[in-house]
Amino acid sequence: MNTQERLERVTNAFRTRFGAEPSSWCRAPGRVDLMGSHTDYNLGYVMTMTVDRDTWLAARPRGDREVHVASLNLPGSAQFSLDDIQPAGDSELRWTDYIRGVAKVLQEAGHRLAGFDGLIHSTIPLGSGLSSSAALEMATAIAFQELSGFHLDTVEMARLGQRAENQFVGVNCGILDQYSSALGRAGAALLLDCRDLTSLDVPIHPDIGVVICDTKAPRQLIGTEYTDRRRQCEAGVRVLQQRQPEISSLRDVSIDVFQRYQQDLPPAVAQRCRFIIEENSRVLELKDALPHGDRQKLHHLLHASYVGARDLYEIAVPPMEAMMNAMLQGPGVIGARQAGAGFGGCMVALVEADHVERFASGVAEAYTRATGLQPSIYPVVAAPGAGLLLA
Ligand code: GLA
Repeated sequence: MNTQERLERVTNAFRTRFGAEPSSWCRAPGRVDLMGSHTDYNLGYVMTMTVDRDTWLAARPRGDREVHVASLNLPGSAQFSLDDIQPAGDSELRWTDYIRGVAKVLQEAGHRLAGFDGLIHSTIPLGSGLSSSAALEMATAIAFQELSGFHLDTVEMARLGQRAENQFVGVNCGILDQYSSALGRAGAALLLDCRDLTSLDVPIHPDIGVVICDTKAPRQLIGTEYTDRRRQCEAGVRVLQQRQPEISSLRDVSIDVFQRYQQDLPPAVAQRCRFIIEENSRVLELKDALPHGDRQKLHHLLHASYVGARDLYEIAVPPMEAMMNAMLQGPGVIGARQAGAGFGGCMVALVEADHVERFASGVAEAYTRATGLQPSIYPVVAAPGAGLLLA
């Protein structure tokens, strides 16, 4: 579906549902991390990139304090009042909690919101690790600004989205997803500093393609495992802090300091901490390798990230291992690793740009042979961060 067809489809569905055409078109992209797994909540670094898959929210003011929303991707529709925002309750309508949550935190931050009718359409595969939730949050934040007449700083918008997800939806995520969706750039990756929330554009060498390799393996236990990892990192910081009081997150720990005190940590905690500390320095190394297209370095960094994620952070599952093997043998591959939180979902490869199609078919075939699963493999390019689709 091209943009014109998508516009027509959403306009028609909007008219059918709400009896008029939308007046505002808001969009927010998904993201893929090229390096920096689980470093965000450790206040470290991530090399992130928006993808050219996004969530649209077409909207029209209602003139009252109600929000009526439906989606072309997900079942059900919901209505709620801005004067009494409660979670959806019905699990089928859990996707509306991202919208409710954003409304709630915006109001708590002092913004006066106007009600709207809204219809969502997304090309981001849902729940596969490309931040479909954050894209919905950011598209919602754009819609409220547009229809209620206020303007948020983009970093503030990302923080409010994260707060909505932490406090209202109940997922204890870091800032990565919302920041990427809000501040991503067309044509470049971003080196994000999760402590001071600044970022730097990092162009990717033009001969290198970024390819998403979706394992299509159902992601299980992700909530509990995620919280578990977070707690282990925090436990590590508490011990290291007793040795060196200036340490307030794993971001502050060099590999030398870690090695000096690692025997004081429970073995599993030491493994998790080592991964985060090493992953942080890989992000910084990637900053130079990506624009120059240093193949050897890229291969080494991405591979080390995957091995650490599998053996130290333990977020790989068998389909990811099968995908990794398939990617490493794909025609034109430069490097490959996990993406998102892990436990299934999408992975990512850097591939010689002129080999992308052969890579996609070769990897799909090898992966299916190994697992019986049908993956989804496609190139992506960095797209602009959240904003208006049509001004
Ligand atoms: C999920 C979370 C992010 C981040 C990644 C792992 O996407 O939402 O905050 O922690 O996992 O890097």
